Amino acid sequence: MPAKQFPKAFSRSEKGFSIAVIGSQYGDEGKGKVVDLLAEKADLVVRFGGGNNAGHTVVVKGKKYKFHLMPSGAIQGKKCCIAAGVALDPRVLKQELEQLTEFKFALVIDPRVQIIMPWHNLLDATSEQAKGKQKIGTTGRGIGPCYADRADRTGIRFVELIERERLKERLEAVFPIKEKILKAVYNSGMEISKEQIFKEYSALGEYFKQYLGDVSLLVSDSLKQGKNVMFEGAQGTFLDIDFGTYPYVTSSHPTAGSIFTGVGIGVMPIERVIGIVKAYTTRVGSGPFVAELEGKLGDSIREAGAEFGTTTGRPRRVGWLDLVLLRTSQRLNGFTEMALTKLDVLNGLDEISVCTEYELGGKRINERPADIEDLKNCRPLFKKFKGFSIPKDVKAYSELPEEARQYVEFIEKELNVPIKIVSVGPDRKETLFR
Ligand code: GDP
Ligand code: IMO
Ligand code: MG
Repeated sequence: MPAKQFPKAFSRSEKGFSIAVIGSQYGDEGKGKVVDLLAEKADLVVRFGGGNNAGHTVVVKGKKYKFHLMPSGAIQGKKCCIAAGVALDPRVLKQELEQLTEFKFALVIDPRVQIIMPWHNLLDATSEQAKGKQKIGTTGRGIGPCYADRADRTGIRFVELIERERLKERLEAVFPIKEKILKAVYNSGMEISKEQIFKEYSALGEYFKQYLGDVSLLVSDSLKQGKNVMFEGAQGTFLDIDFGTYPYVTSSHPTAGSIFTGVGIGVMPIERVIGIVKAYTTRVGSGPFVAELEGKLGDSIREAGAEFGTTTGRPRRVGWLDLVLLRTSQRLNGFTEMALTKLDVLNGLDEISVCTEYELGGKRINERPADIEDLKNCRPLFKKFKGFSIPKDVKAYSELPEEARQYVEFIEKELNVPIKIVSVGPDRKETLFR
């Protein structure tokens, strides 16, 4: 397809190349692997949303690295940015940095970033407990309460963390309120005193001071200077707070549109918006899952794909690939291409199913309904494919068994988006380009 021409008024005369990596399903699609792979040619790698609920795995020469807050471009030694839209737990980021000393990356943290404070973790745990059967199954990292405070305008920002006096002032204002809420609403306590928090967090502020920088300005200027910028998505499209399976979602927007608000740049065409699609579906936590597979087959795919959370270690729920979900994901994100990951995990199955449509109230539908109650009543309709076995040392797409290629080509035809990358193993080198 020829590149789309934008009317002159919408195009920038001088700009760098931009790539977005977006989770198309419920997270854990393999974003970390793809970011690391493509970061080689990037000047900046930018996290624009979510927090350490994310767990992005990169495997290079058999060695595994797990990222929660650091952009996955760190291994490639890039300038890594944490933009305003991120919820940042400084305890976690410090630990992460201490494990990455062998790599020569730079780090820039936007002053507007919201800080996850100890009460956010406590409120996450207590509110989940209070929800009982209706619990979301959060990662327990304080994400929801931190973003709630941002909206409530009581959050603490990075620029306040790194300035002792401002941190003190903010603690004086916020701590007593959170303590009261924990006690009165949840019959719980703070577990840590205001003085202890000040001591620990002012030291963290001191540690992080050197990384302060206006990421909004940096990214805008870098693009103008013709530099290459990569935007690393976290979570997945159906965990989006508005367009996911609300309330079983996260508290941010993992969709591509939030790059602009999360980083603080003007709306512009992003050359490559890559939807990361796992060759089947997984989900951690509660909420509807139309093409879910229970029983032995689900268990065997979970084992083969090592589908246990990078962040919490929880077993991930497993299901067949869902084209209704992906069609809607394409609409919400505007993917220019897709990367299909974990195709090797389906090795050895006699038959593979793909959900092509849902049946709802006797009608066939091919887009996700907006109402979660409708979604719960959707029944998956499947098309079956012959199984395959991918040779271990496959080097090119053309070397894949015909049945595997049929599977890949069916998906791109149905979604009308090219699959440019096929991943057949966790390692950087286990990747086929088309
Ligand atoms: P992310 O959150 O989207 O970055 O994904 P995670 O890192 O949470 O989960 C993906 C898991 O699958 C990680 O353990 C990766 O190392 C692994 N992985 C990525 N691509 C492939 C692949 O093509 N095949 C296999 N077998 N594993 C993969
Ligand atoms: P990456 O970036 C998978 C899920 C949680 C829960 C819901 C809300 O690794 O793909 P939260 O702690 O955000 O309030 O939990 O969202 N969730 C993820 N699931 N991958 C993720 O990130 C996730 N981040 C949050 O399991 O269902
Ligand atoms: Mg993950």
